[in-house]
Amino acid sequence: MDDMTPPTRIILTGFSGTGKSAVGPLVAKQLGWAFVDTDDIVEKHVGKRILQIFADDGEQAFRDFESDALREACSRETTVISTGGGAVLRADNRRLLAESGFIVCLEAWPETIYQRLTDRADTQPLDRPLLAGDDPLGRIRELEYSRAHLYALCDWSVHTDGLSIDQVVDEVVRAYHEHGEQSLAAPGRVDAIATTQATVPAGTLHIVPEEGACIVRTSSREYPVFTGWGTLGELGKRLREANLTRFAYVISDETVWHHLGDEVEKSLRSAEIDFDVFTVPPGEASKSLEHASDIYDWLIEHRAERGHAVVAVGGGVVTDLGGYVAATFARGLPLVHVPTSMLGMVDAAIGGKVAVNHPNAKNMIGMFHQPRFVLEDVATLRTLPVREIKSGLAEAIKHGLIEDASYLDFLEQNADAILKLDRNATVEAVRRSVAIKAAVVGEDEFETTGRRSTLNYGHTLAHAIESTTGYARFRHGEADGIGMMAAASMAVRMGLLSPEVMERQRRILDRYGLPTHADGLDRDRLLVAVALDKKVQGKKMRWVLLEDIGRTVIRDDVPPEIVDAALDDVLH
Ligand SMILES: NC(=O)c1ccc[n+]([C@@H]2O[C@H](COP(=O)([O-])OP(=O)(O)OC[C@H]3O[C@@H](n4cnc5c(N)ncnc54)[C@H](O)[C@@H]3O)[C@@H](O)[C@H]2O)c1
Ligand SMILES: [Zn+2]
Repeated sequence: MDDMTPPTRIILTGFSGTGKSAVGPLVAKQLGWAFVDTDDIVEKHVGKRILQIFADDGEQAFRDFESDALREACSRETTVISTGGGAVLRADNRRLLAESGFIVCLEAWPETIYQRLTDRADTQPLDRPLLAGDDPLGRIRELEYSRAHLYALCDWSVHTDGLSIDQVVDEVVRAYHEHGEQSLAAPGRVDAIATTQATVPAGTLHIVPEEGACIVRTSSREYPVFTGWGTLGELGKRLREANLTRFAYVISDETVWHHLGDEVEKSLRSAEIDFDVFTVPPGEASKSLEHASDIYDWLIEHRAERGHAVVAVGGGVVTDLGGYVAATFARGLPLVHVPTSMLGMVDAAIGGKVAVNHPNAKNMIGMFHQPRFVLEDVATLRTLPVREIKSGLAEAIKHGLIEDASYLDFLEQNADAILKLDRNATVEAVRRSVAIKAAVVGEDEFETTGRRSTLNYGHTLAHAIESTTGYARFRHGEADGIGMMAAASMAVRMGLLSPEVMERQRRILDRYGLPTHADGLDRDRLLVAVALDKKVQGKKMRWVLLEDIGRTVIRDDVPPEIVDAALDDVLH
């Protein structure tokens, strides 16, 4: 399409119940254009109702048919095209739509959508599953929310709440005349719309450049992670967007609250969200059933109920404790993570594992409970002690080693900037790390296929090091550094990994001030602790090993003499 010629197609998108199919033909009539609905094309081509296609062939097959139908529709001129609400999920579709015409999103509040879908006599087949569960409104909210970042990319939005169909039609026609030509001429528009990652296979995540949100897609929930600089003040607004406005139970630790409490309170107040705050002492000891129990007492006093949210503001201790309470109280309260430590941002707040410690077994009492969203303000790290920053970065380095060579390059090249918390470099480091963890977790939410276990690279020995030293001598990431070096040494000795890659790993750990060996550790106690670790299946020790940067393998056949030799390599 040439610059500055009026578009010859109007594409209507938006959630079910926003009125696309009713509005489309009327817009076409006003303009004297044709109208086509891509769902109709699909049904005609396949010869089945859409719900039947979903049932017989699955959503992916439907999406393939839909992509074909979009191509066909976009080959027609002077046409209003109404698309299914999920058409924007695929990047290829978005590119095609962006190249073909003026994209208008019809929006509506979840309540409006719910009302319209339930009022409608001829509920569309596809909407029935949406309405079928025990909390249809909640489901609509969630789905709409998970797609909001995509709908936001459209050229124009019409908020349909409270408008009649004719008023919506007028709005669309007006927007087309006043903005159509200009919108399409905006430089970089097609790429901006298309390259926001949103291809759908489970486990991928979507980065929205403007907001730095990545969407974590798991089988139980989809949610955004907003990573930015100076964004803590958006907490109230984000809660509103997520419809978590009734009451916020903020859980934090005393140190974090001392630094950030005022800002959090201010944000909640300005969004007119009622809240109360519960703080625990800083440190691992707070991740206990006793503290959880104190929080339950507090929630009962406040008559907390299911629509109320738990907001965990703090490091990994607080996200795990707050998450555990949210998962268990009243069979589950909505949870929001606001991680404030490096480890919390790149690791603990992503993936839905929540837990408290048993006196004899760390993280043993826990479950999976995914948050509604995660808000990461990287600027909050400015008050975090540098040792904690380095420790958290061990997980980021691990993410590069196991998944993404280009991320490892980035961490190598920007080490100085990141350690100084340079704004751009650090935000990018955190975002990319979040993206990697989110992708892995999305593919194996409940750690059943082995995929998620690769995140345990270096951790088998690290946990043993931490427990045999009473969690006092090393920060978690420091123990990881030693554990990753032992794993690398095993892999080299087994002929899986080149010594050069092991040296590269050592150099980057060094560069970030993380230990690669340690003296004074008791080898026999370490081996007993490794054998007790939950990553041991049967009698065999299982190790996550590296074959190259970005390539892991899980092995339970590492010969004892190689384990011994690898321990020799790091225990000095
Ligand atoms: N659920 C998971 O998937 C997962 C993953 C990794 C780690 N974890 C858990 O995370 C915990 C460790 O997390 P952590 O290292 O963040 O520990 P932490 O929560 O104890 O935080 C470390 C210290 O930093 C302080 N702090 C946090 N944010 C601060 C800020 N912005 N300014 C100043 N001080 C700040 C805390 O008060 C604390 O003293 C462990 O319990 C571990 O089991 C969980
Ligand atoms: Zn870890």
